[in-house]
Amino acid sequence: MADALAKKGPHWRAMTSNDLAAVDAIAARVHPDYPEDSAVFAERLRLHPEGCRVLATAAVTGYVISHPWHSGPPPALNVLIGAIPVPAATYYIHDLAVLPDSRNSGAAGKIVTALAGHARALGLPSMSLVAVNGSAPFWNRQGFALMAVADERKLMSYGTDACLMRRDLD
Ligand SMILES: CC(C)(COP(=O)(O)OP(=O)(O)OC[C@H]1O[C@@H](n2cnc3c(N)ncnc32)[C@H](O)[C@@H]1OP(=O)(O)O)[C@@H](O)C(=O)NCCC(=O)NCCS
Repeated sequence: MADALAKKGPHWRAMTSNDLAAVDAIAARVHPDYPEDSAVFAERLRLHPEGCRVLATAAVTGYVISHPWHSGPPPALNVLIGAIPVPAATYYIHDLAVLPDSRNSGAAGKIVTALAGHARALGLPSMSLVAVNGSAPFWNRQGFALMAVADERKLMSYGTDACLMRRDLD
């Protein structure tokens, strides 16, 4: 089974609670400056499983966590949100991470396109995120633009290089 999956190459599949340990390990490696408790990932998976996927062959090498959100500030880093807001105003990408050896295959771009379809199906007019790790150029290529933030302190839990980005959906 593992061999068959490896031959198929990395693909995005639904995340399950069995994947959370792997997601934690990838987050610790890729985002050492933005630590989040396992409970945060587990909560997002429980609240919006449709927005949580893993990049996998035999092993998990990437993940995305995303969910509808309101028009106010993005969720602070490492904070439980309690519930998905109703009504929602945007589709929020909480995190997208791929391990270095699995990068540059187009996988991240593919899942962003899939999430855009999911957000449209939910009737949401935009996607948004907080770009960290100097990833703004990647997001720019995915159709996201920098947004002005009325109160910069709102993003401070993400560090000083964080920037809010949005992509309007047609
Ligand atoms: C950003 C990330 C998810 C992209 O994953 P990926 O699977 O390599 O992305 P893709 O293969 O779809 O796209 C790769 C392209 O994006 C570019 N790219 C990726 N990260 C970039 C960055 N930080 N700055 C500029 N360009 C970047 C690559 O150079 C490549 O360009 P090319 O197609 O011209 O060769 C991955 O680099 C990553 O996990 N980074 C660390 C975690 C992170 O910062 N996530 C974003 C948090 S907001």
